[in-house]
Amino acid sequence: MFKVFKKSNEKESSQVFEKIDMNNIPKHIGIIMDGNGRWAKQRNLPRAMGHRAGVETIRNIVKECSNIGIKYLTLYAFSTENWVRPKDEVNTLMELLVEYLKGEFRELNENNVIINSIGDISKLPPKCKKELTDAYENTKNNTGLILNLALNYGGRNDIVNACKKMYNDLDSGKLSMQDINENVFSKYLYTAGMPDPDIIIRPSGEQRLSNFLLWQSAYTEFWYSQINWPDFKVEDLHKAIIDYQNRDRRFGGLK
Ligand code: FPP
Repeated sequence: MFKVFKKSNEKESSQVFEKIDMNNIPKHIGIIMDGNGRWAKQRNLPRAMGHRAGVETIRNIVKECSNIGIKYLTLYAFSTENWVRPKDEVNTLMELLVEYLKGEFRELNENNVIINSIGDISKLPPKCKKELTDAYENTKNNTGLILNLALNYGGRNDIVNACKKMYNDLDSGKLSMQDINENVFSKYLYTAGMPDPDIIIRPSGEQRLSNFLLWQSAYTEFWYSQINWPDFKVEDLHKAIIDYQNRDRRFGGLK
Protein backbone atom coordinates (compact mmCIF):
# COMPACT_ATOMS: atom_id res chain seq x y z
CA MET A 1 0.00 0.00 0.00
CA PHE A 2 1.37 3.40 -1.03
CA LYS A 3 1.88 5.65 1.93
CA VAL A 4 2.46 9.38 2.01
CA PHE A 5 4.59 10.79 4.79
CA LYS A 6 4.18 14.44 5.55
CA LYS A 7 6.57 16.19 7.89
CA SER A 8 5.47 19.26 9.74
CA ASN A 9 7.09 21.50 12.29
CA GLU A 10 4.93 21.07 15.41
CA LYS A 11 6.08 24.25 17.14
CA GLU A 12 5.42 26.37 14.07
CA SER A 13 2.01 24.78 13.48
CA SER A 14 0.86 25.29 17.06
CA GLN A 15 1.92 28.96 16.80
CA VAL A 16 -0.26 29.29 13.70
CA PHE A 17 -3.16 27.49 15.38
CA GLU A 18 -3.05 29.86 18.37
CA LYS A 19 -3.75 32.80 16.05
CA ILE A 20 -7.17 31.41 15.07
CA ASP A 21 -10.06 33.37 16.55
CA MET A 22 -12.34 30.60 17.77
CA ASN A 23 -15.24 33.07 17.91
CA ASN A 24 -15.04 33.77 14.21
CA ILE A 25 -14.74 30.34 12.65
CA PRO A 26 -16.16 30.16 9.09
CA LYS A 27 -19.41 28.23 9.01
CA HIS A 28 -18.85 26.83 5.55
CA ILE A 29 -15.56 26.07 3.81
CA GLY A 30 -15.40 24.93 0.19
CA ILE A 31 -12.26 23.31 -1.22
CA ILE A 32 -11.29 22.74 -4.85
CA MET A 33 -8.85 19.88 -4.33
CA ASP A 34 -6.50 20.62 -7.19
CA GLY A 35 -2.99 19.53 -8.11
CA ASN A 36 -3.14 15.75 -7.59
CA GLY A 37 -1.94 15.06 -11.13
CA ARG A 38 0.95 17.51 -10.90
CA TRP A 39 1.95 16.13 -7.51
CA ALA A 40 2.18 12.66 -9.06
CA LYS A 41 3.99 13.90 -12.16
CA GLN A 42 6.66 15.63 -10.07
CA ARG A 43 7.36 12.23 -8.50
CA ASN A 44 7.15 10.19 -11.71
CA LEU A 45 4.11 8.42 -10.32
CA PRO A 46 0.88 7.60 -12.12
CA ARG A 47 -1.89 10.18 -11.71
CA ALA A 48 -3.89 7.67 -9.68
CA MET A 49 -1.24 7.91 -6.96
CA GLY A 50 -1.79 11.64 -6.84
CA HIS A 51 -5.49 11.12 -6.23
CA ARG A 52 -4.73 8.47 -3.62
CA ALA A 53 -2.41 10.88 -1.84
CA GLY A 54 -5.19 13.48 -2.12
CA VAL A 55 -7.49 11.21 -0.15
CA GLU A 56 -4.92 11.16 2.65
CA THR A 57 -5.20 14.97 2.75
CA ILE A 58 -9.00 14.70 2.82
CA ARG A 59 -8.74 12.53 5.94
CA ASN A 60 -6.58 15.07 7.78
CA ILE A 61 -8.58 18.10 6.70
CA VAL A 62 -11.97 16.58 7.52
CA LYS A 63 -10.73 15.65 10.97
CA GLU A 64 -9.36 19.12 11.61
CA CYS A 65 -12.50 20.90 10.34
CA SER A 66 -14.47 18.73 12.69
CA ASN A 67 -12.07 19.49 15.60
CA ILE A 68 -12.27 23.24 15.20
CA GLY A 69 -16.03 23.36 14.80
CA ILE A 70 -16.56 24.06 11.11
CA LYS A 71 -20.19 23.24 10.36
CA TYR A 72 -20.00 22.62 6.58
CA LEU A 73 -17.09 21.42 4.49
CA THR A 74 -17.77 21.07 0.75
CA LEU A 75 -15.14 19.16 -1.20
CA TYR A 76 -15.13 19.37 -4.99
CA ALA A 77 -14.45 15.67 -5.64
CA PHE A 78 -15.81 15.19 -9.17
CA SER A 79 -17.19 17.82 -11.49
CA THR A 80 -19.74 17.51 -14.31
CA GLU A 81 -16.75 18.15 -16.61
CA ASN A 82 -14.49 15.45 -15.14
CA TRP A 83 -16.22 12.69 -17.17
CA VAL A 84 -14.05 13.62 -20.16
CA ARG A 85 -10.91 12.36 -18.37
CA PRO A 86 -9.53 8.96 -19.43
CA LYS A 87 -11.81 6.13 -18.37
CA ASP A 88 -9.13 4.67 -16.07
CA GLU A 89 -8.83 7.90 -14.16
CA VAL A 90 -12.60 8.26 -13.78
CA ASN A 91 -12.74 4.68 -12.50
CA THR A 92 -9.93 5.35 -10.03
CA LEU A 93 -11.75 8.36 -8.65
CA MET A 94 -14.97 6.37 -8.25
CA GLU A 95 -13.08 3.54 -6.56
CA LEU A 96 -11.37 5.96 -4.22
CA LEU A 97 -14.75 7.34 -3.24
CA VAL A 98 -16.01 3.86 -2.37
CA GLU A 99 -12.77 3.05 -0.51
CA TYR A 100 -12.95 6.31 1.40
CA LEU A 101 -16.55 5.87 2.47
CA LYS A 102 -15.96 2.27 3.49
CA GLY A 103 -12.61 2.83 5.16
CA GLU A 104 -13.43 6.05 6.95
CA PHE A 105 -16.93 5.21 8.00
CA ARG A 106 -16.06 4.32 11.61
CA GLU A 107 -13.82 7.34 12.14
CA LEU A 108 -16.28 9.74 10.52
CA ASN A 109 -18.97 8.43 12.83
CA GLU A 110 -16.70 8.70 15.87
CA ASN A 111 -16.07 12.30 14.86
CA ASN A 112 -19.82 12.94 14.68
CA VAL A 113 -19.61 13.75 10.93
CA ILE A 114 -22.70 13.75 8.70
CA ILE A 115 -22.09 12.63 5.12
CA ASN A 116 -23.94 14.51 2.45
CA SER A 117 -23.43 15.11 -1.25
CA ILE A 118 -24.30 17.73 -3.81
CA GLY A 119 -24.58 17.07 -7.54
CA ASP A 120 -26.34 14.54 -9.71
CA ILE A 121 -25.31 11.27 -8.12
CA SER A 122 -27.77 9.29 -10.27
CA LYS A 123 -25.02 9.14 -12.93
CA LEU A 124 -22.43 7.58 -10.58
CA PRO A 125 -21.64 3.84 -10.73
CA PRO A 126 -24.06 1.72 -8.62
CA LYS A 127 -21.29 0.88 -6.11
CA CYS A 128 -20.75 4.56 -5.34
CA LYS A 129 -24.47 5.21 -5.02
CA LYS A 130 -24.81 2.30 -2.61
CA GLU A 131 -21.89 3.43 -0.41
CA LEU A 132 -23.23 6.96 -0.41
CA THR A 133 -26.75 5.89 0.51
CA ASP A 134 -25.37 3.75 3.34
CA ALA A 135 -23.19 6.63 4.50
CA TYR A 136 -26.12 9.10 4.53
CA GLU A 137 -28.24 6.62 6.44
CA ASN A 138 -25.54 5.69 8.95
CA THR A 139 -24.45 9.23 9.74
CA LYS A 140 -27.76 11.08 9.56
CA ASN A 141 -28.18 11.24 13.34
CA ASN A 142 -24.76 12.77 13.92
CA THR A 143 -24.68 16.42 14.86
CA GLY A 144 -21.19 17.60 13.93
CA LEU A 145 -19.51 18.59 10.70
CA ILE A 146 -21.55 18.18 7.53
CA LEU A 147 -19.17 16.74 4.95
CA ASN A 148 -20.60 17.70 1.63
CA LEU A 149 -19.06 15.77 -1.23
CA ALA A 150 -19.56 17.53 -4.55
CA LEU A 151 -19.97 14.60 -6.94
CA ASN A 152 -20.91 15.01 -10.57
CA TYR A 153 -21.42 18.60 -9.48
CA GLY A 154 -21.32 21.70 -11.65
CA GLY A 155 -22.49 25.16 -10.66
CA ARG A 156 -24.25 25.73 -13.99
CA ASN A 157 -25.93 22.35 -13.77
CA ASP A 158 -27.01 23.21 -10.21
CA ILE A 159 -28.71 26.40 -11.47
CA VAL A 160 -30.36 24.74 -14.50
CA ASN A 161 -31.54 21.88 -12.33
CA ALA A 162 -32.99 24.36 -9.82
CA CYS A 163 -34.84 26.16 -12.65
CA LYS A 164 -36.38 22.88 -13.80
CA LYS A 165 -37.53 21.99 -10.30
CA MET A 166 -38.93 25.48 -9.85
CA TYR A 167 -40.74 25.23 -13.18
CA ASN A 168 -42.40 22.01 -11.99
CA ASP A 169 -43.61 23.74 -8.83
CA LEU A 170 -44.91 26.68 -10.87
CA ASP A 171 -46.65 24.29 -13.22
CA SER A 172 -48.32 22.37 -10.42
CA GLY A 173 -49.34 25.56 -8.63
CA LYS A 174 -47.12 24.83 -5.60
CA LEU A 175 -45.24 28.05 -6.30
CA SER A 176 -46.38 31.32 -7.81
CA MET A 177 -44.34 33.77 -9.86
CA GLN A 178 -44.65 36.56 -7.25
CA ASP A 179 -43.08 34.31 -4.62
CA ILE A 180 -39.82 33.85 -6.53
CA ASN A 181 -36.88 35.69 -5.05
CA GLU A 182 -33.21 34.90 -4.39
CA ASN A 183 -34.00 33.20 -1.13
CA VAL A 184 -36.63 30.97 -2.66
CA PHE A 185 -34.38 30.17 -5.61
CA SER A 186 -31.60 29.05 -3.23
CA LYS A 187 -33.96 26.45 -1.83
CA TYR A 188 -33.99 24.68 -5.21
CA LEU A 189 -30.21 24.33 -5.33
CA TYR A 190 -28.33 21.25 -4.15
CA THR A 191 -27.13 23.34 -1.21
CA ALA A 192 -30.68 24.12 0.01
CA GLY A 193 -30.68 24.99 3.68
CA MET A 194 -26.90 25.46 3.88
CA PRO A 195 -25.16 28.78 4.37
CA ASP A 196 -23.15 30.07 1.42
CA PRO A 197 -19.46 29.22 1.63
CA ASP A 198 -17.55 31.83 3.65
CA ILE A 199 -14.27 30.82 2.07
CA ILE A 200 -13.25 28.75 -0.92
CA ILE A 201 -9.74 27.32 -0.84
CA ARG A 202 -7.96 26.34 -4.04
CA PRO A 203 -4.49 24.89 -3.86
CA SER A 204 -2.07 24.20 -6.75
CA GLY A 205 -1.65 27.76 -7.99
CA GLU A 206 -4.77 27.92 -10.16
CA GLN A 207 -7.01 30.91 -9.54
CA ARG A 208 -10.41 30.07 -10.96
CA LEU A 209 -13.73 28.75 -9.78
CA SER A 210 -14.08 25.93 -12.35
CA ASN A 211 -17.87 25.76 -12.12
CA PHE A 212 -17.86 25.26 -8.33
CA LEU A 213 -20.74 26.76 -6.29
CA LEU A 214 -21.35 29.60 -8.78
CA TRP A 215 -24.54 30.98 -7.26
CA GLN A 216 -23.44 30.33 -3.70
CA SER A 217 -20.07 32.10 -3.97
CA ALA A 218 -21.43 35.59 -4.71
CA TYR A 219 -19.75 36.94 -1.55
CA THR A 220 -17.29 34.21 -0.75
CA GLU A 221 -13.68 34.98 0.16
CA PHE A 222 -11.15 33.15 -2.00
CA TRP A 223 -7.90 31.73 -0.74
CA TYR A 224 -5.29 30.40 -3.13
CA SER A 225 -2.07 28.56 -2.47
CA GLN A 226 0.74 27.15 -4.60
CA ILE A 227 0.74 23.85 -2.72
CA ASN A 228 -0.68 20.82 -4.52
CA TRP A 229 -3.60 19.19 -2.70
CA PRO A 230 -1.67 16.06 -1.59
CA ASP A 231 0.82 18.37 0.16
CA PHE A 232 -1.85 20.57 1.72
CA LYS A 233 -1.55 20.32 5.48
CA VAL A 234 -3.65 21.15 8.50
CA GLU A 235 -1.42 24.23 9.00
CA ASP A 236 -2.41 25.45 5.54
CA LEU A 237 -6.04 25.18 6.56
CA HIS A 238 -5.23 27.17 9.69
CA LYS A 239 -3.47 29.83 7.60
CA ALA A 240 -6.49 30.10 5.30
CA ILE A 241 -8.83 30.52 8.26
CA ILE A 242 -6.63 33.19 9.85
CA ASP A 243 -6.43 35.03 6.54
CA TYR A 244 -10.20 34.81 6.18
CA GLN A 245 -10.62 36.23 9.68
CA ASN A 246 -8.59 39.27 8.67
CA ARG A 247 -10.66 40.01 5.57
CA ASP A 248 -13.06 42.93 5.59
CA ARG A 249 -16.36 41.43 4.41
CA ARG A 250 -18.73 44.20 3.43
CA PHE A 251 -21.27 42.34 1.27
CA GLY A 252 -21.60 45.40 -0.94
CA GLY A 253 -22.16 47.74 1.99
CA LEU A 254 -19.85 50.07 3.93
CA LYS A 255 -17.97 49.40 7.12
C1 FPP B 1 -8.04 17.71 -9.23
O1 FPP B 1 -6.67 17.39 -9.43
C2 FPP B 1 -8.67 16.66 -8.43
C3 FPP B 1 -9.76 15.92 -8.84
C4 FPP B 1 -10.42 16.14 -10.14
C5 FPP B 1 -10.31 14.85 -8.01
C6 FPP B 1 -10.27 15.02 -6.53
C7 FPP B 1 -10.64 13.75 -5.90
C8 FPP B 1 -9.99 13.12 -4.91
C9 FPP B 1 -8.88 13.74 -4.16
C10 FPP B 1 -10.36 11.73 -4.45
C11 FPP B 1 -11.77 11.23 -4.59
C12 FPP B 1 -12.72 11.84 -3.65
C13 FPP B 1 -13.12 11.39 -2.43
C14 FPP B 1 -14.16 12.14 -1.71
C15 FPP B 1 -12.58 10.19 -1.78
P1 FPP B 1 -6.13 17.19 -10.91
O2 FPP B 1 -6.14 15.74 -11.21
O3 FPP B 1 -6.92 18.02 -11.86
O4 FPP B 1 -4.67 17.74 -10.77
P2 FPP B 1 -3.79 18.39 -11.92
O5 FPP B 1 -4.46 19.68 -12.31
O6 FPP B 1 -2.48 18.60 -11.24
O7 FPP B 1 -3.72 17.40 -13.05
